[in-house]
Amino acid sequence: MKKLIYCFSGTGNSFRAAQIIADTLKDTAIVNVRKDPSGYSAEDADVIGFVCPVYEWDVPGRMREFISQLSVNPNAYIFMVATYIAVLGKAFETVEGILSSKGAHLSYARTVRCVASQCIAYPPFPPEKLMLPLMEKNMRKTAREISEMKHRKYPHMSAVTRKLYPKMMVPFLNIEHEYDKGFYTDSRCTGCSTCARVCPAKNITIIDRRPEWNHNCCGCNACVVYCPAKAIQFKIPQAYLELGNPISKGLKLPAKRKRYHNPHIKARDLMD
Ligand SMILES: Cc1cc2nc3c(=O)[nH]c(=O)nc-3n(C[C@H](O)[C@H](O)[C@H](O)COP(=O)(O)O)c2cc1C
Repeated sequence: MKKLIYCFSGTGNSFRAAQIIADTLKDTAIVNVRKDPSGYSAEDADVIGFVCPVYEWDVPGRMREFISQLSVNPNAYIFMVATYIAVLGKAFETVEGILSSKGAHLSYARTVRCVASQCIAYPPFPPEKLMLPLMEKNMRKTAREISEMKHRKYPHMSAVTRKLYPKMMVPFLNIEHEYDKGFYTDSRCTGCSTCARVCPAKNITIIDRRPEWNHNCCGCNACVVYCPAKAIQFKIPQAYLELGNPISKGLKLPAKRKRYHNPHIKARDLMD
């Protein structure tokens, strides 16, 4: 039986979920969506999983792109697990839409509430101490259900979220690629290239032993939180401040920010 999990993860929560599911299913490969989908086809797979965070009330752009280019077996048991904080939006609908264009469908879908990963903009919340045991418990429960090949319908975007989406999210999505204009390195950067190797969008090039961001960013923060020297800093990019909508007006970075990544996931887990 061929079992594959395709995973996007910036701060490790989704990768941790993928890892627990793979261990429970046994003999299951995890494919990082950094890879080229043509080399990791699911055409002959019996069990296919998609695990990723919710970004901007949807799935990250790289996840969407990857699934669109992937060949899948329409008769496989297909599951999706979305890690998030509070607002799911249309994440499952997006993936179901792509799959249905290939004649395939989600058999099982579940969300797992996690610690917020935009920790460069605000402190991690809810507190890790409180959340980590709950996350582990929910990930294990999800993994058990998947190993029993249970079926579970996916939740749709709520009517309120659907109404707010164009005003609240679309302006951010239009400038998301510029998120990386906020990143810069300080003197602690050793040019080790960890940032480039964990970036799920392959958006970083090392030039003269320093990272350069190529403005194809998805805002995952992997580069910041997995930098072994804590040398990558962040300021709010000008384009975000100039948006002039209620969210951008409230953007302010607290003086103290903690670099959260899931404690079970190391940088090497996210590299290819
Ligand atoms: C750019 C970005 C956008 C996010 N958007 C949402 C969102 O719309 N709804 C939500 O509930 N959580 C959102 N989150 C929180 C993440 O979904 C959550 O922390 C997730 O577990 C991160 O997964 P990872 O650790 O695998 O990267 C967002 C995080 C980032 C970095």
